[in-house]
Amino acid sequence: MPAKPKPKNPPDIHWLYEASVQNVDTDLDFARRVYARHWKRKPLTVREDFCGTAKLAARWVERNRAHEAWGIDFHQPTLDWGVKYNASELSEEQRRRLHLLCGDVLETRTPKVDMAFALNFSFCVFKRRELLRTYFERVHEALNDAGLFVLDIYGGTESVTAKSDDVRRIPGFTTPEGMRISDFDYIWEQAAYNPITHETLCHIHFKVPGHGSINKAFTYDWRLWTLPEIQEILLEAGFSKAEVYLHDFDDHGESDETFRLRKTYVNVQGWVAYVVGIR
Ligand SMILES: C[S@@+](CC[C@H](N)C(=O)[O-])C[C@H]1O[C@@H](n2cnc3c(N)ncnc32)[C@H](O)[C@@H]1O
Repeated sequence: MPAKPKPKNPPDIHWLYEASVQNVDTDLDFARRVYARHWKRKPLTVREDFCGTAKLAARWVERNRAHEAWGIDFHQPTLDWGVKYNASELSEEQRRRLHLLCGDVLETRTPKVDMAFALNFSFCVFKRRELLRTYFERVHEALNDAGLFVLDIYGGTESVTAKSDDVRRIPGFTTPEGMRISDFDYIWEQAAYNPITHETLCHIHFKVPGHGSINKAFTYDWRLWTLPEIQEILLEAGFSKAEVYLHDFDDHGESDETFRLRKTYVNVQGWVAYVVGIR
């Protein structure tokens, strides 16, 4: 069989990732709502851990002149991409309120903030309970007394099968450099899951018309923590409360993106929850 031709001029995977995976306005609106309910005031400062391209932190400073944000990631090239594209969208004044730090979230110190985020399951890189507790303790220390910590986690029956694929069609867009990307496929592959350790290996692939397949654009080697474990460890790390928010489904079986505080939930094939640690 002839070798498959390599995709010509492949699109930058960070654009594809941001378009497929992130919805920072939903995250920020959710957190602000929970914050206001608990603390009866508006949050002003945010810390985005595992920030990658710092899309959420950049959006926060853009939203209001009184907002300030810190982003932490230990991968300088990804931070550089965020500076080039997300921070460059900001005015000079907004950029002065955005602080991107290259470092490990376990060690990097920031001023105290009102809200901390660890999204897209990033904290699952910590596979040992003591390490996860140490991380949660660091976040607890980095919060103001009126503060909260928002994480997300996925689960459901498909998350604990040996192998599974989830394919979603993502609307196309044009990059700032003028590259037109038509509607494309985002593929989440769970390549391995070990029920003894809850370790899982997942890949993100993209199929972009005119550019072919971009296999293993991102790979994650994680421990899939369960909701009770996350809540227990947040409390062990000093949080006064740990709350779980889950969505319902629309008529097409997709998440309705409305997250409600729950004590019970009927398990389904797949769900994504926000867990909130209250300082
Ligand atoms: C799944 S991406 C998350 C990107 C983005 N924040 C989001 O919500 O989609 C995970 C990021 O965490 C970073 N990372 C992993 N372990 C880290 C650590 N211990 N300290 C700082 N950054 C870390 C990686 O470099 C990567 O950019």
